[in-house]
Amino acid sequence: MSKLINWIDERLPIVEAYNKHLGQYYAPKNFNFWYFFGFLAMIVLVNQLVTGIWLTMSYNPTGEGAFASVEYIMRDVQWGWLLRYLHSTGASAFFVVIYLHMFRGIMYGSYQKPRELIWIFGMTIYLVLMAEAFMGYLLPWGQMSYWGAQVIVNLFGAIPVIGEDLSLWIRGDYLISGITLNRFFALHVVALPIVLLGLVVLHILALHEVGSNNPDGIDIKKNKDENGKPKDGIPFHPYYTVHDLMGLGVFLFVFCIVVFFFPEMGGLFLEQPNFEPANPLKTPDHIAPVWYFTPFYAMLRAVTVDLFGLDAKFWGVVVMGGAIAILFVLPWLDRSPVRSIRYKGVLSKIALATLVVSFVVLGYLGIVPATEGRTLVAQVLTFLYFAYFILMPFYTRMEKTKPVPERVTG
Ligand code: HEM
Repeated sequence: MSKLINWIDERLPIVEAYNKHLGQYYAPKNFNFWYFFGFLAMIVLVNQLVTGIWLTMSYNPTGEGAFASVEYIMRDVQWGWLLRYLHSTGASAFFVVIYLHMFRGIMYGSYQKPRELIWIFGMTIYLVLMAEAFMGYLLPWGQMSYWGAQVIVNLFGAIPVIGEDLSLWIRGDYLISGITLNRFFALHVVALPIVLLGLVVLHILALHEVGSNNPDGIDIKKNKDENGKPKDGIPFHPYYTVHDLMGLGVFLFVFCIVVFFFPEMGGLFLEQPNFEPANPLKTPDHIAPVWYFTPFYAMLRAVTVDLFGLDAKFWGVVVMGGAIAILFVLPWLDRSPVRSIRYKGVLSKIALATLVVSFVVLGYLGIVPATEGRTLVAQVLTFLYFAYFILMPFYTRMEKTKPVPERVTG
């Protein structure tokens, strides 16, 4: 065995890679619950890839056959129902895990110098993941697949001058059709997964170059022992591999309960109208995207005024795009001398709590039909969401921070 390893190692440095990324990779010893989600995101990604490949074996990517082929997978293909529920529940689990992972990064200031690039790769992953989920949702070719895609692709039409041509180019037709389904299928099963995988590799390489942050936001490389190892660090393997396995156990327990008992999650994970085949002649009463898009959808609908000769839909798209774009520049908005929320001042704590409440309530408002009152609430919350970012350079500089300890605390 060791001869074989040596033989390979002389041609491809696997031992060096193992040491760099696992055996000799020193991670802070104070990781908590929030540090499970990066690993869990990888697990969910693998689940999506594997179940996706097997679904593709029985799925028919045509306007005529798609809906029936999904029913065939659910009823006739052996274990097909399980493959499909693992994949559809996996999509929602992906966003649960990613939102918690992003929140951790925001809470502990993990995006701050020197981890800006990890954050930028993460945000790019998030964008690609949204595109991946959106295209995947068209594939069952149900009513919500069809009309959801219709609404979103039509949004591009709001862009002045090129908008109409752009949405025509995306659809490949004058309305969502089998042609659109076919190209979304190609992007969903081949192009975007490759991009996602590549980005995850870059995300991890960038992380391992500078090392992980931790709940105290302390740089563990500043305190090294006589062997040059960080005093507050422990080798990733075996300590965190075992630790992460425990997180995986808890995650799988919850995930399986959903897959086996609540795969539709009361219409949140699989929406009711999607059990009817797509019908271009019948618009559903109420069109709403899947839950993970609804905070942004609520922001889109919150914009109701025409400005500078451009209609509200255009400005809605700008606000929605801006809500995601502003996250990219987060590392340059935070001027605090400390990283973690533990040592930031009271203004940062209020701001973070407001951000979370706004995002969650906007998520709810994006699911339910709009009324005048709800639109007003959505407008206020959209304003608060942006305030978190736009005011950040000011409140992070103004507030009094707590002293950061020399060594990590428990
Ligand atoms: C497929 C999606 C993703 C995967 C597989 C992934 C994986 C990971 C892993 C394994 C880690 C190290 C363990 C941990 O800190 O939890 C990590 C760290 C990190 N990720 Fe991600 N990630 C993903 C998406 C994202 C997104 C969307 C963002 C933010 C926009 C992000 C931002 C970060 C940051 C800032 C860190 C460093 C955290 C720290 O050191 O405190 N990641 N990621």
